[in-house]
Amino acid sequence: MAGGASGDGNDNRFGDAAAVAAGLGNEDLGYADLGYMGLGYVGLGAPDSSAWCELATGVCGLMPSRVLPGAEGPIRMLQPEAEGQAPDGSVYFKMDDLQWRVAVHPREESGLLYLGLELRDERAFDRLCKKIDACGADIRLGTEEERVARAVGCLAVVHDPAGHRVELFASPVRDRDFVSPHGVEFKTGAFGLGHVVLYVPEIQAALDFYRNVLGFERSDFMHFGPNGMGIHFLRCTARHHSIALLQIGDLRGLQHLMFETTSLDDVGKSLDRALKAGIPITSGLGRHRNDGTVSYYMQGPIGFDVEIGWDGVMIDEHWVENEFAGGGDDWGHHGLDAASLAPKESK
Ligand SMILES: [Fe+2]
Repeated sequence: MAGGASGDGNDNRFGDAAAVAAGLGNEDLGYADLGYMGLGYVGLGAPDSSAWCELATGVCGLMPSRVLPGAEGPIRMLQPEAEGQAPDGSVYFKMDDLQWRVAVHPREESGLLYLGLELRDERAFDRLCKKIDACGADIRLGTEEERVARAVGCLAVVHDPAGHRVELFASPVRDRDFVSPHGVEFKTGAFGLGHVVLYVPEIQAALDFYRNVLGFERSDFMHFGPNGMGIHFLRCTARHHSIALLQIGDLRGLQHLMFETTSLDDVGKSLDRALKAGIPITSGLGRHRNDGTVSYYMQGPIGFDVEIGWDGVMIDEHWVENEFAGGGDDWGHHGLDAASLAPKESK
């Protein structure tokens, strides 16, 4: 498949810089113009993925990928018992037609390794790469090996100011064999897999990057503590937010990962499964004031929370950015406060 952008190995990978800057860098492109398909995948690291695997499949209802990305992928179509495990120990999970959406790779330390943002097609991918390049960010095209490892046709890599690896991709492999072990249907497709909340040590630098370089727009800001502490909710599709940013000291990494279901029953049933499995519930059921999501939060086993929700608002051209204070919920979500947003010890 094509590598996207110019991909010709020249220093000037994304076209003539001056021409690009004149045509793109100063242009106020909204996310709708850029062709985002939301948060496409998330890559995690952990010394032991077993507890995460139990949570992902046994509680959340994700499915172990049967067809794994990587050079040996097609061969593994013949191994339905593979349980998502690649030869290098990485484990892949799917939640819709895409071959995979979440991966856990063997690492000494737990944490976020990369985020993938999907673009509608190669044209949108090229356009965004040129815009990012024109903004002066250090973006590069993925290698053939990297594209194969992610099972995508186009791949580019850039880092946000906090050092999080952000990948842009298009043309992901689809296998269309998703069957949730608990009958869960996830809201994905053109809106991505859900959202993440990231810790960033310098909030303004991060906001500048996601808004001005990547072209996200802010949906809301919610005060969540003293001295201006709060969460900035950023969207790149009609989903209220695909990435939200939070500054607590010098922390960086993943605060929580959210999956959205298409029914309230799927949220309630997963809460039942979490309770039965003895997973600590960070915050019980409630409805967020800003995006209207009904959800709960549980303490994941590799250093971040997992939110399961339903009924998040979809944003249209009439949306007005809000600033919230005095609590972030219409009801419930007991325990979700400034203290609960700090990292927890892995269990
Ligand atoms: Fe969330």
